[in-house]
Amino acid sequence: MDEKYQELYRRAAEAYENAYAPYSKYRVGAAVLWESGRITTGSNVENASYGLTVCAERNAVFTGTGLGERKIKAIAIAVPAGDFPAPCGACRQVIREFAQNCDILLLNGKGEKKITTLVELLPNSFGPEFLPESGLKA
Ligand code: THU
Repeated sequence: MDEKYQELYRRAAEAYENAYAPYSKYRVGAAVLWESGRITTGSNVENASYGLTVCAERNAVFTGTGLGERKIKAIAIAVPAGDFPAPCGACRQVIREFAQNCDILLLNGKGEKKITTLVELLPNSFGPEFLPESGLKA
């Protein structure tokens, strides 16, 4: 497999070590590979006011956009749990903002890997190109 993808899996697995998940105990790590080659990571951050929780994927994406990144090439999501992770609907749409399609790499606690795509997880999606004044240049 592509060396960059191996690195992406590894960085996502490292990221869940820093998850703040005292309520659900469900730790998630994510690593985004941007078109520039940069990788940004994130983990889930929960809150005593539960609804304020932010997923690992969104933290990883927003860390990249804060550095000026705008095009996602791939994202890896890793969990120590036995089942493969599944990005929530909100995170799928946030990823969609920065990629019409991209690879989504999944890693579970058994060390099993699976690659899917954004189009598979979010078919017929709505994105910035639908708007006359696209936010792509923002
Ligand atoms: N979570 C993520 O970080 N990413 C996912 O793909 C699914 C859910 C987090 C949110 C919350 O901290 C915990 O997992 C349980 O929902």
